[in-house]
Amino acid sequence: MRKSLVAGNWKMHGSVQSVERLCAGIVSGAGSLGDVDVLVCPPSVFIPSALQLMAGSAVAVGGQTVSEQAQGAYTGEIAADMLKGIGCQYVIVGHSERRALYAETNSVVADKFAAAEAVGLTPILCVGETLEQRDQGETLKVVGEQLQAVIHLVGVDKVAAAVVAYEPVWAIGTGVTATPEQAQEVHAAIRQQLTEAGNGTRILYGGSVKSSNAAEIFAQPDIDGALVGGASLDADEFLKICQQA
Ligand code: 13P
Repeated sequence: MRKSLVAGNWKMHGSVQSVERLCAGIVSGAGSLGDVDVLVCPPSVFIPSALQLMAGSAVAVGGQTVSEQAQGAYTGEIAADMLKGIGCQYVIVGHSERRALYAETNSVVADKFAAAEAVGLTPILCVGETLEQRDQGETLKVVGEQLQAVIHLVGVDKVAAAVVAYEPVWAIGTGVTATPEQAQEVHAAIRQQLTEAGNGTRILYGGSVKSSNAAEIFAQPDIDGALVGGASLDADEFLKICQQA
């Protein structure tokens, strides 16, 4: 039985004050959640305060991206063992915004995955197609290639031991979610690609998840939680999504 995971990706939102409020709100409700893992991924400068504010609660803290390099002259970058060293457990790699806006290729994403995995962080590997790719019937091919690049570098067992997030690009921040059936189709294909090892892999859905649509998404057999953007910036809304997982 796979334990659900609900992760909040705060992207580049927040301030010192709003992070304190949001963490306090999540901690106050996190104790009464059922059997679900909860994670928040704040902007990197707020990770230390989030770790402090979440201390003693069951809420984990993770990064939104990581360098593929271990250490060195890479101005502005953050290494995996830095995240691990301050107490992060997870890191998102290959988010579509990083792929599209910061030119992260499948091969760079695979390197980042490997860097994170090597220090004991659990990577959350994001995959997903654009609307154009979906319209051209290329969804499973695109997602399959994104996944295969990482499998090729680190092997299927390490990918299966991580978390995969299917985030159709056209559903991110648009208010349009994939239908539960559309998401399930891709999740099942991802699990199949991970072979038998994938039976235990948590595969999250991301893209305009809200408390009003979470239940039908979570009802799908291969959907094991969510990677939540906008709705994770409101503690009550985020907790409602966690409750449904
Ligand atoms: P939204 O939930 O705002 O659509 O964002 C999804 C996402 O990109 C999470 O990583």
